[in-house]
Parts: sequence; C-alpha cells; structure tokens
Amino acid sequence: MAFLELKNVSADILGSRILNGVSMTVDSGEAVAVVGANGAGKTTLLRTISGLVRVSRGDIRIDGRSTARMPAHRISRLGVGHVPEGRQVFAALTVLENLQVGARDSAQVDQVLELFPMLAGKRDASGGSLSGGQQQMLALARALVPRPRLLLMDEPSLGIAPAAMEEIIAVIKQTQAALDYAMVLVEQTSWVALELVERVCVMQRGSLVAEGPAAEILTHDNLISAYFT
Ligand SMILES: Nc1ncnc2c1ncn2[C@@H]1O[C@H](COP(=O)(O)OP(=O)(O)O)[C@@H](O)[C@H]1O
Ligand SMILES: [Mg+2]
Repeated sequence: MAFLELKNVSADILGSRILNGVSMTVDSGEAVAVVGANGAGKTTLLRTISGLVRVSRGDIRIDGRSTARMPAHRISRLGVGHVPEGRQVFAALTVLENLQVGARDSAQVDQVLELFPMLAGKRDASGGSLSGGQQQMLALARALVPRPRLLLMDEPSLGIAPAAMEEIIAVIKQTQAALDYAMVLVEQTSWVALELVERVCVMQRGSLVAEGPAAEILTHDNLISAYFT
C-alpha cells in the first residue's frame, strides 16, 4: 500500500505557483529519487509533504490520512522525518542536544546513537565543530530519532567530498535496513541516487515530467541533458 500519495498537488510561494499538479506515490519501505534542474521545485515538494509549505490545490495522503490542512508537527507525528537542504544542524548545541530536539524520550536518542557510532563518540562536541559529512550524518540521525516511516532527504551530497559521501550512503543503507523507512531523496549526483533508489521521478518547472527505473533515467544522456539544464 502507498504510504505517501500526492494527488494533483499545487503549492504557491509569494503568489507564484511553484508546484503544479504533482501526483506521485511511495510505498512503505520504498526509496524514490526526485531529480531536476535548480529551481525546479524539488525542495518545495519536500517542504510541502512536511507541511512547511501549504498545499493550495489537490491533496496529500500519508498512511491513508489527508494531510493537506495539517500543521507540520502533526504530519511529523504521522511518521514523516525531514533531512533539510543544507543540513540545518544547530551549530551551538552539542551532538546530543541536536538529537534531543525531536525526541519523545531518551531511549529514542540512545537507539539512534547505536546506529551512529561516530556520533556517539562525539556526543559532547558542538554541531558546528563537525565536518560537512559528519553534520550530514547528524542531520540524518536527528531525523531518525522519532522513528519515521518516511524520510524526506534533500540533497545530502551537496558540498560533500565523494569519499565522505560513500560513508553517508553506507549509513543510509544500514539505517534503512534496521528501521525500514520509505524515502523520498532529492539528489542531483547520479551515482549517489543510483546507489540508494530503484525509481526516479523527474521534475521540471514544478511538475513531474518523467518517471522510471533509476538505471534507465539516470544513465540516459538524452534524458539528463533534457531535464537538468
Ligand atoms: N521561500 C521562498 N521565497 C521565494 N521563492 C521561493 C522560495 N522557496 C522557493 N522559491 C522559488 O521556488 C522555485 C523552486 O525552488 P526550490 O523548491 O528551492 O527548487 P529546487 O530545490 O528544485 O532547486 C524557485 O524559483 C525558487 O526561487
Ligand atoms: Mg533544493
């Protein structure tokens, strides 16, 4: 059954239509990537699913419940976690405090730290003292604390060296296997998306214009030059 379903969703920012009639479904445990040029609306899509941008037309269903008019904190409680663009780690808080922000109890933080030994070793370091790759891990761990069933991940590879990204990919795979969450991944780096998803949706000017197996879409030069530029 689809855990996430968007039906003809539009969203406006400052009077401009940014998402235009987006329909997509993501099954429980499934991982899907959304790709497209800068400014296509990928971040807005994730923020709309999270309830940070209001749905102006259409509907979103999460686990069978309509969320188009729900505030973000209620959508989060339905099992949606968000790893935002740019990571948004709290630089002045410690690693542990960053993880406690979304926690319902300390057991949840302890369980997540078991999946991130690197962070467990740095629990008293400030978020701002971590490298970019470590901050991405912290943003991922923080989103996993409340045990989401759907993770929205926005450009995890942005500004991160390939070697560090390999480590992050390994951790994403491990946590997916341990926690069995579905994922919508926004990712511009083809090899990263190919490692993590089976299916890809292509976004262009606020609409989804193509969809298919990752191996077809992300390795097809014509498709990439048509949609990414
Ligand atoms: N807070 C905002 N204020 C004004 N315009 C915005 C805002 N957020 C997004 N936009 C506009 O919406 C469009 C899509 O942006 P975004 O969703 O960030 O695209 P992407 O993540 O694909 O690069 C862009 O034209 C951008 O300028
Ligand atoms: Mg973006």
